[in-house]
Amino acid sequence: MSDKKQSRVLSGIQPSGTLHLGNYFGMMSRMIKYQEESELFCFIANYHALTTVPDSEMLISNTFNAACDFLALGLDPEKSTFWVQSDVPQVTELTWMLSSHASIGLMDRATSYKDKIARGIKPNMGLYSYPVLMAADILLFDSQIVPVGKDQKQHLEMTRDIAIRFNNTFGETLIVPESDIEERTQLVPGIDGQKMSKSYGNTIPIFDTEKKIRKKIMKIITDTTDIDEPKDKDTPLFQLYCLFLDEAGQKELSNRYDGKGLQYGIVKQELFEKVMDHFGPFREKRDQLSSNPSHVYEVLNFGAEKARKVADKVLDRVRSAAGVNYH
Ligand code: ADP
Ligand code: TRP
Repeated sequence: MSDKKQSRVLSGIQPSGTLHLGNYFGMMSRMIKYQEESELFCFIANYHALTTVPDSEMLISNTFNAACDFLALGLDPEKSTFWVQSDVPQVTELTWMLSSHASIGLMDRATSYKDKIARGIKPNMGLYSYPVLMAADILLFDSQIVPVGKDQKQHLEMTRDIAIRFNNTFGETLIVPESDIEERTQLVPGIDGQKMSKSYGNTIPIFDTEKKIRKKIMKIITDTTDIDEPKDKDTPLFQLYCLFLDEAGQKELSNRYDGKGLQYGIVKQELFEKVMDHFGPFREKRDQLSSNPSHVYEVLNFGAEKARKVADKVLDRVRSAAGVNYH
């Protein structure tokens, strides 16, 4: 713990849709906790979202909503550095400088790129070099720890690889970061049982109307096991419910799944109540923020200023190491 107090923690989220329970447990809530014990850097990755959101109005509104979500959930702009990626364009220069150290073999192994192509997204350079931009996000701030869900593990390995290659070429210049993936929340299932993801239409949003959240929860897939038979726990309803329970609560739920008489409809209703109780206290703040955009933009500007100061220093170090600062 005392090590982490001194460490610099960074992560980002794409404004590519409405933020959901997978984002919350996999990344957001863990980031918010880190602000107490570390130097926290948190940003909204709108350059990354350009690879999948070809609609400017939508990108603008998703960016604003993601900022409101984070701030409502407790991200404190005084205790952390919180900004929008495009307000620190230095990251694009670093991306270019790192590109010569990202081998094609490495890039070709990126599963996230392959998944996107398999889902019918047309291949383009933005999608292909997405991991280099992500490496630049991380390395530009001398990040040591990067909290993410399991789906980002390979991107973190690519970042490390690029940093090590750069250091081998030019001497120790970049900090080689570690990913921080939490076992319990590494892969939150969606209502269809696949990974919960904005792009799969299977999410439970953090802040939607009560009615819509209830509807989503009622749609979680279940099986047709007889009411008096033990139920399968390797299922989305069980796993999602556990995210809201402490150890004792999880044990109790597990016993109910093993015993007789469990009705999925009742479990869903309980989960709905847990979700509403958990996020209820943040809803009012969320509404206040969304009705005061100028305040939100002020907060983001303040964060961008702090971020640019760090970025300029690191970039200058990289430019000097590579010989781009020529006099
Ligand atoms: P999405 O797949 O919904 O577009 P992002 O790729 O923007 O989500 O992810 C933002 C952060 O949330 C990342 O750290 C990612 O690992 C985490 N995350 C996203 N979905 C999940 C999930 N289902 N379980 C755990 N973490 C997740
Ligand atoms: N690729 C990440 C995702 O889709 C978002 C991201 C962009 C990110 N840059 C980052 C995460 C830097 C951690 C660090 O979830």
